[in-house]
Amino acid sequence: MKAALVDPIGLDNLKIIDLPDPEPGDHEVLVRLKYASLNYRDILTVNGGYGRMQKQENLIPLSDGAGEVIAVGPKVEDWKVGDRVMSCFFPDWQAGPMRSEVVRTNLGGMNDGVAVEKRVFRADALVAVPDSVELRDAATLPCAAATAWNAVIEQGKAGPGQRVLIQGTGGVSLFALQFAVAAGAEVYCTVSNEEKAKLVRTLGAAHTVNYREDEDWGKSIMKLSGGRGIDHVVEIGGAATLKQSMLSLALEGRISMIGVVTGPKAEINVPIIAMSGTTIQGVSAGSRHSLQRLVHAISYHKIKPVIDEKRFTLDSLKEALQYLDKRMHTGKVVIEI
Ligand SMILES: NC(=O)c1ccc[n+]([C@@H]2O[C@H](COP(=O)([O-])OP(=O)(O)OC[C@H]3O[C@@H](n4cnc5c(N)ncnc54)[C@H](OP(=O)(O)O)[C@@H]3O)[C@@H](O)[C@H]2O)c1
Repeated sequence: MKAALVDPIGLDNLKIIDLPDPEPGDHEVLVRLKYASLNYRDILTVNGGYGRMQKQENLIPLSDGAGEVIAVGPKVEDWKVGDRVMSCFFPDWQAGPMRSEVVRTNLGGMNDGVAVEKRVFRADALVAVPDSVELRDAATLPCAAATAWNAVIEQGKAGPGQRVLIQGTGGVSLFALQFAVAAGAEVYCTVSNEEKAKLVRTLGAAHTVNYREDEDWGKSIMKLSGGRGIDHVVEIGGAATLKQSMLSLALEGRISMIGVVTGPKAEINVPIIAMSGTTIQGVSAGSRHSLQRLVHAISYHKIKPVIDEKRFTLDSLKEALQYLDKRMHTGKVVIEI
């Protein structure tokens, strides 16, 4: 079977190799992966960006995949051949709050991922894909959607009467937008051009500000909100966006700290946070139970993940990662396996 392998670490060293078909152990399931999706984090991992927190050689990348069960171990009761399944970002995080021991179980970083035709999973490290959700769509959920779901719904508790700010049109942001709209919140979105403004309005955003034309967008959003400010910012930018996010925020507002697309270090003004009663909370994907709740919501609300129109395969994974890195995409980049 085919697999993508990065060795030594570095995107230039990504190659497609042949590996023997794996076999499931007693409590394991063999899955024929059909689709995988890319996350910004995959650009970091294929280049060794997580240092000691990831494999630095012989890495099979990517965390998010979906496919069909093709064999089950003798002691597996929950799955049968033909079941449609998706991976979990942290296979050991079943439920409840995050614990340090689950962090090291992430796929496509500390452990081999899903850029492979067939892969063995522990039976409790998969989530069922309902008939109403296409496998291609399911492959976009384990990291970006799970993170957005936790930020906006499970931790952020967004709902009617709240103003939520989303940054740009990447994977996490568009899921956050769709969840906030489904929850009844009023959504503001920073965008890089008019085409993207149209897209987010189609998805239910009420207000847009072009962050390229308006460097002081934090103040503009505060003005647009009638001076009340944003209740909940889904922060994916980091270095270049946090200050503007703070300027847009309501008293007692919340910032979900998720990403670093503009850099990892930002200055914070402690007295302003203290006097404004701001909550800053880190968000990191989510548990298996949380992913199950998210899948139910996607199915019930008929939420269709936004997938970039450019098509890639396992053979063109390197080009797909370059495409993501150059920010040529909108929403999720998916590869067919
Ligand atoms: N904590 C976690 O568990 C977790 C989970 C998932 C992701 N993340 C992090 O979250 C971030 C986003 O991940 P992703 O997979 O959604 O990335 P992505 O699909 O590559 O999206 C990144 C998007 O950021 C937007 N952007 C760039 N500069 C911006 C700016 N100055 N202001 C507003 N938007 C800007 C661009 O959208 P436009 O082209 O529309 O401007 C770009 O498409 C990454 O840093 C990733 O590592 C963290």
